[in-house]
Amino acid sequence: MILGLETSCDETAAALVTADGRILANVVSSQADLHARYGGVVPEIASRRHLELVVPVVREALAEAGASLAEVDRVAVTQGPGLIGALLVGLSAAKALAWALRLPLVPVDHLHGHVASLFLGPDPVEPPFLCLLASGGHTLLLDVRDHSGYRVLGTTLDDAAGEAFDKGARLLGLGYPGGAAIDRLAREGDPEAYDFPVARVPGLDFSFSGLKTALLYRVRELSPDELSRRRADLAASYQRAIVRALVGRTEAAAEETGAERVAVVGGVAANSELRASLAGAALAPLELCTDNAAMIASAALYVEEIPFARYLAVDAYASSAA
Ligand code: KG4
Ligand code: ZN
Repeated sequence: MILGLETSCDETAAALVTADGRILANVVSSQADLHARYGGVVPEIASRRHLELVVPVVREALAEAGASLAEVDRVAVTQGPGLIGALLVGLSAAKALAWALRLPLVPVDHLHGHVASLFLGPDPVEPPFLCLLASGGHTLLLDVRDHSGYRVLGTTLDDAAGEAFDKGARLLGLGYPGGAAIDRLAREGDPEAYDFPVARVPGLDFSFSGLKTALLYRVRELSPDELSRRRADLAASYQRAIVRALVGRTEAAAEETGAERVAVVGGVAANSELRASLAGAALAPLELCTDNAAMIASAALYVEEIPFARYLAVDAYASSAA
């Protein structure tokens, strides 16, 4: 049994996963409410909250699984990328637990974790596949040939897709985090009401910053009254543009690589329009799209463990080496 911990951003999460990829417990404590009044994640507040929550979420995961610490065989934890202070809380907690129990530690890359959300039961997706990873921090097209890694085919040149959702929501006065709020409001609006540009950058890369600026201009043109009348149309049109960009590039990548299977992971994979537009693709289950620790434990099944006592100097990293 693997105990996974995830604290890279504003979710404090612990999970227990079996060696064959079955989820025994998956506890996520979101700090979103705490950060909403600031319109985004405040790193120092996130670190402090992780510190308060990390032990309770581990306890809750054990209770949910009806298991004890004595049954844990390995401890997995997100090493990066993410907010460095937030990561250090999870990494320190994981080291302490592994050390106290004399267990091996498995440091996991957060992006590998998102991909590994597809490897969990009851319906695991087997490589090879082309993977769209769209989250608050990343927008990547990945060539996944086996369980242990991937090759990057395309990335965003500026904002991530989730960031575009969050910034758009802020411009529309929908608060933080914005992706789910735009998703909900878009259902009441007309996606053809506004024509937002989908950036055309070369290759398989993405660009979302122009889109956000286009929305800003549209919002500025409207009086507060008009804005409240057109908010749903703006949300629907804006979402349509992001989804079009994601689907367009994913289809181009599938054609270019001859991939037979396409999969979608990350927080933005929870978007209902994206899910509907990629019918036929393997979609991570909703509860595994946004940050969680089950995906970290899942990735750990395919990463070399560090034996007891050799991991105390392992450090977290804020951004990927690439
Ligand atoms: O993967 P994730 O939980 O954290 C990161 O690793 O970044 O992704 C969070 C992102 C946020 O930007 C959030 O607005 C977006 O995922 N998100 C959504 C939806 N649910 C979450 N975006 C669009 N539609 C949704 N339903
Ligand atoms: Zn994430």
